[in-house]
Amino acid sequence: MKIAIMGAMLEEVDPFLASYEHGPLLKYFKKHSDVEYADNLYHEAKYKDLDIVLSYSKIGKVNAALTASMMIEHFGCEMLLFTGVAGAVTSELKIGDLVAATQLCQHDLDITDFGHPYGYVPKGKIYVESSRELLHIAKAVANDKGINLKKGIIATGDQFIADSERKEWIARTFDADAIEMEGAAVAVVCDALDIPFFVLRAICDAADIDATFDFDKFVKHSSQVSSSFIMAMLEKIMAKQA
Ligand code: ADE
Repeated sequence: MKIAIMGAMLEEVDPFLASYEHGPLLKYFKKHSDVEYADNLYHEAKYKDLDIVLSYSKIGKVNAALTASMMIEHFGCEMLLFTGVAGAVTSELKIGDLVAATQLCQHDLDITDFGHPYGYVPKGKIYVESSRELLHIAKAVANDKGINLKKGIIATGDQFIADSERKEWIARTFDADAIEMEGAAVAVVCDALDIPFFVLRAICDAADIDATFDFDKFVKHSSQVSSSFIMAMLEKIMAKQA
């Protein structure tokens, strides 16, 4: 099985790269090669019995869609796990908490002038559903580790939100729990190509007036939290395969 592990920023996948280089998982990760393709870098590696392709897309929906497409169509990945950080939309989510997307939507997709609802274009879907099986595996990992994994709706847009009014509008309009800038783009690509996917985000800010400050302060820690969880999921995925 070939698995794509994807983030948007170097910080989000750095815990994996550190494992390749000098981390505790080094003995399992056998680094193969770094491949430059379509203006991005893809790290091919072996993790025990799994083939891994790791990459960060750069921020935003277009970059994320491009990278997800390349991982599937060019590198042959059969499953995609996204790891990264998000802003909390619900007050239930605090910095460091993990949220797994059950559904993803695009909060900045707007042709409402033509009578369509927010987040919808003809022949599209407002919400794209994540793989139930991967959500199931995530639940098992959370139980094993005693982690309170929240499941919820993630809203994606090409905007960093640091504004309570806009955040509340997104919460109200999409019933969203967290916001970020890539998840729904990955979801649309994987859904179209019939590839099971999972989007995990650790909260690093509350999308309010303090968001940029909090983001810089917590991005590294929250990225580590999310990456560790994804690594544990790899073990379970492998165990299921055996
Ligand atoms: N990713 C992390 N925090 C975010 C925010 N406040 N807005 C958009 N994407 C984010």
